[in-house]
Amino acid sequence: MSDSVESPLQVPFDPQALIRQAIEASKRAYVPYSRFRVGSALLDAEGGVHLGCNVENAAYSPTNCAERTALFRAIADGHAAQSFRAIAVVGDTDGPIAPCGVCRQVMMELCAPDMPVVMANLHGEYTITTVSALLPGAFTSKDLG
Ligand code: THU
Repeated sequence: MSDSVESPLQVPFDPQALIRQAIEASKRAYVPYSRFRVGSALLDAEGGVHLGCNVENAAYSPTNCAERTALFRAIADGHAAQSFRAIAVVGDTDGPIAPCGVCRQVMMELCAPDMPVVMANLHGEYTITTVSALLPGAFTSKDLG
């Protein structure tokens, strides 16, 4: 029996398939104020995908971004923090969409620092980075002592 068990986070995934699912999720966005649809697809350790869209609010600040919707949904469905393999986010931007600062902080809390983040637009452009690269010097639970 081999002792070199591959971590779930190192299992290869298809970024374009995840982007396609994020585009489907964006169609469910509740965006009466910005009209700016965002979709996200979060791949879990078992190969399941959790979709998220942005959900806006008349008071503006309660708005939940697509990435957080996907992450909170997966956590509520019983998946463990740090167990996810990748997340994709898609919006109708000129270049690949950039996750907001709040979502970067939430990814840092719930995902492994080296988890891939696929940032895409509707024109087929995408880039892949990692959670820690998106939030250098992040405040984390380690800072709480
Ligand atoms: N938004 C997201 O859902 N994800 C991002 O990465 C950027 C911004 C949403 C929030 C709001 O509903 C709309 O896009 C405009 O900011």
